[in-house]
Amino acid sequence: MTKTILSLLFITTISMAQTGLVTQKAMVVSAREEASKIGSDIMLHGGNAFDAMVATELALAVAYPYAGNLGGGGFMVYRKANGKTGSLDYREKAPLAATKNMYLDENGNVIPGKSTESAFAVGIPGTIAGMFEVHKKFGSLPIAILLKPVIALAEKGVVVTENQWKQINDHKAAIVRLSGDQTLFAKDYKVGDIIKYPALAETLKRISKNGRDEFYKGETAKKLVAYLQQKGGIITLKDLSKYQAIWRKPITFKYRNLQIVSMAPPSSGGICLAQILKMIEPFEVAKLGHNSPKYIQLLTEAERRSYADRNFYLGDPDFVKIPQTQLLDPEYLKQRMSDFTFEKATKSADIAKGKITFSESNETTHYSIVDSKGNAVAATTTLNGAFGSKLYCDELGFFLNNEMDDFSSKPGTTNSYGLVGAEANAIAPQKRMLSSMTPTIVEKNGKLLMVLGTPGGSTIITSVLQTILNVTEFNMTMQNAVDAPRFHHQWLPDDISFEPKRFPEETTETLIQKGYKINEKNWPIIGKVDAILVLPEGRREAGADHRGDDKACGF
Ligand code: DON
Repeated sequence: MTKTILSLLFITTISMAQTGLVTQKAMVVSAREEASKIGSDIMLHGGNAFDAMVATELALAVAYPYAGNLGGGGFMVYRKANGKTGSLDYREKAPLAATKNMYLDENGNVIPGKSTESAFAVGIPGTIAGMFEVHKKFGSLPIAILLKPVIALAEKGVVVTENQWKQINDHKAAIVRLSGDQTLFAKDYKVGDIIKYPALAETLKRISKNGRDEFYKGETAKKLVAYLQQKGGIITLKDLSKYQAIWRKPITFKYRNLQIVSMAPPSSGGICLAQILKMIEPFEVAKLGHNSPKYIQLLTEAERRSYADRNFYLGDPDFVKIPQTQLLDPEYLKQRMSDFTFEKATKSADIAKGKITFSESNETTHYSIVDSKGNAVAATTTLNGAFGSKLYCDELGFFLNNEMDDFSSKPGTTNSYGLVGAEANAIAPQKRMLSSMTPTIVEKNGKLLMVLGTPGGSTIITSVLQTILNVTEFNMTMQNAVDAPRFHHQWLPDDISFEPKRFPEETTETLIQKGYKINEKNWPIIGKVDAILVLPEGRREAGADHRGDDKACGF
């Protein structure tokens, strides 16, 4: 009886079509209203989606210090109104003094915390380089105009929401341990308090005045290096001055009548998304039913096989040869699924990386933007962990990342997201650590259809996947697609993670009978997607994830 009621409740929740904010021309969807509003206003005053990106990204550093950053990095995929696509890699890099075994003790074991909560955990930040690169190539308004509202927000301050209060409290002990009891986030904030960021405002003013070099060579660079060295870190001025963001060719592929554009290595996002969608394409996905046991099985088995490849073959393309063509070869992917059956679960222990022969010649936030001309930007940016390394440089007003943990510290051992890695993602000086970030753009009939992405570590890829399928296979609105319950499998550990209390018991029971292990407790969040759907008549519909304070603004 209770089961039936639960199922009915569940079905009702799913079938209520709820539309997100709909606007005529332009829209920004991000983790905080303050940031979305700043980006949207930039477009209202004549800026394009790329101008809005610079303002939104830096506004998130103010309004969402949990992941928004100056001390981290990210990836951006774009599609211009004329249909041209591309992507920017502003991922952090390992310092020159980094070594393969820098997180291991004398017995070769990983030293707990060294790659996550220490100055050693910090990769060379890429965000400011990324923003200036975007601005140089596509910006239409002066940098000073783009930074003005961001600086004003830092000076005026940002209200502490319930979610932010929880984030600060959950991590306060670690922040104090790393950054001292006088640091800005050591104070006892209440919901509704306003936190002002005067030091960050000053840093942004210098960057606005002196440009990119202020962060990589100027006063800010010197202060940052002094701070990190005093904390025992290894980043030098030479590391900062050598940093470059890189324009990369995105991963593009077809899924049915869609053309998908996503991030190439050093993110695994695009390749894994392509592999999974290509593996499920031969099946009648929509007929399986949304979140039905069979649907969950199909996605799980494709995910399992793709993540096994990810962990072995993927890393920084500037350092390792990635067999991209082979990994995306339709014959290879067909072969990979040839042992799949709906009867019972495959065991991850029986799945290794696919056999590929190739000649020699391993806490985040996302925002989506569409401007009135139809230029689109999908950008995911991160400090890695919540508040990154928890090192807050009070003098400069921002947190430093702990992105070095995304490297494979030791083949076969797991990182913060339970991902195992191999040689391809081993640490080397100046190398970029493998990422799962998946900023993605979807086209249909040669036109822009969707802009999306999400935080969530290893769950990023599968959250983007499910959101695309929710719209294109199950005809959900953008908001419903973003809010729908999600699940995740990443090869190892060999279990399916479900959002707690959002799947009917019959579903998980059916899967258990087929040999699947179920995990309903480990993940507080499987993705927090911010997306925009272009409706048939051209209006833009937002999907701002209800799991956070995420909000759309536009006109
Ligand atoms: O690049 C990556 O894959 C990770 N550093 C992303 C971290 C993340 O999404 C944390 N957010 N929940």
